[in-house]
Amino acid sequence: MTDPRTFPADFLWGTATASYQIEGAATEGGRSPSIWDTFSHTPGKVLGGDTGDVAVDHYHRWEEDVQHLADLGVGAYRLSIAWPRVQPDGRGELNREGVEFYSKLVDALLARGIKPVVTLYHWDLPQVLEDAGGWRNRETAELFGEYARHMARELGDRVAMWTTLNEPWCAAFLGYGNGQHAPGITDDLAALEASHHLNLAHGLAVRAIRDELGEDAPVSVTLNLHVVRPADPENPGDVESARRIDAVGNRIYTGPMLEGAYPDDLLADTSSITDWSFVRDGDLETIHQPLTSLGVNYYDVTIVAAPTGEPVGDHPTPWAGCRDVVWADRPGEKTAMGWGIDETGLTELLTNLSARYPGLPLMVTENGAAFDDEVSADGAVHDPRRIDYYARHVEAVGKALDAGADVRGYFAWSLLDNFEWSFGYERRFGIIRVDYDTLERTWKDSAHWFRELVTTGTPPA
Ligand code: NOJ
Repeated sequence: MTDPRTFPADFLWGTATASYQIEGAATEGGRSPSIWDTFSHTPGKVLGGDTGDVAVDHYHRWEEDVQHLADLGVGAYRLSIAWPRVQPDGRGELNREGVEFYSKLVDALLARGIKPVVTLYHWDLPQVLEDAGGWRNRETAELFGEYARHMARELGDRVAMWTTLNEPWCAAFLGYGNGQHAPGITDDLAALEASHHLNLAHGLAVRAIRDELGEDAPVSVTLNLHVVRPADPENPGDVESARRIDAVGNRIYTGPMLEGAYPDDLLADTSSITDWSFVRDGDLETIHQPLTSLGVNYYDVTIVAAPTGEPVGDHPTPWAGCRDVVWADRPGEKTAMGWGIDETGLTELLTNLSARYPGLPLMVTENGAAFDDEVSADGAVHDPRRIDYYARHVEAVGKALDAGADVRGYFAWSLLDNFEWSFGYERRFGIIRVDYDTLERTWKDSAHWFRELVTTGTPPA
């Protein structure tokens, strides 16, 4: 028998959430509407007509939730700030009540020895900015830089790690490309413009935070990098599909942010849509900032087959240059999202990133799974499949460490069941169950498992 794996003592274990998915109190405390309020209130956009109006009521129950974090024994908690709560007009005056909410939350975490890892943009753009073009409009990036400066000033001395953006690919390509997310626009050009303005927003925010707090201020970004594999590595068409998805799914962000340029093949793939003239002199320099760490969200691998030359019908990749790429289905185990389970992609991703960007520490800022949980007669939630998912992926992180990847932390998605975007409350990712009638929180078996992991540094057998 081999010895159980033990993670380094300073490895950061945490759980993650996001403002719109948990807070509720959508019209309270001076908060203005976000694009997700508008979108979720538009019939047909979210499963079951669910909205984030109440969500899991974290806005009122945050003290209880912090206590759960303390009981779990985590070293860190990844939360996001709702821009419309702290700066309802998306510019100008701050809403003191909103700032106070996050300030108290951060203090409560610190009082329990939990490091706040704070994301500035987890998709809830003030609606007022969308009315002016949203991420299609360059001004949104500039305003984001100012908002970041305010937050650094207000909370900077207490935040352990700033994250500028969460998954800009989703914000751009699901928000403006296939319309599955707010603001629900379907326009290839808009998705590319949004990507660039999100990149720019990132760069401006990093600069603003470091301007306020000094060059050492801890700043990161979180990306959902697609681990793309050709269905048949020997088939040139399949390989070509993988290259295209990698360009417009990954390198469109890592290129400018980490290497200072958009990749040539991306520019060629998208040349019939745009000449990229929205990229102005100096933008790439602004975007290309040194980072304290790179956040990686990982759920599954993506397997693709040769482009058909014709648009593929109801399609998960109807984005720039990928409309005819075939996504191969894989037999085997799936989560309630219909996603496969393949932890080898996580080891591969972390190992490759560390090899390509030496000196850039990595954090797994999200990993987890939705399953159709059932409550037992005794009130317990036995979720062995979620535990198995976590065990396999935590081991995959361990293997990346063995292979020399510089991984500093791991955050479970999510602390609580919550609003899973266009799937509403149907999909449960929490290690803590939320009863949506009573809003009562109950630890699932996975929460107990996670507690043992984070308090011992060894995955429970
Ligand atoms: C990524 C997103 O950041 C998060 O908001 C979402 O709930 C999870 N993945 C699961 O889909």
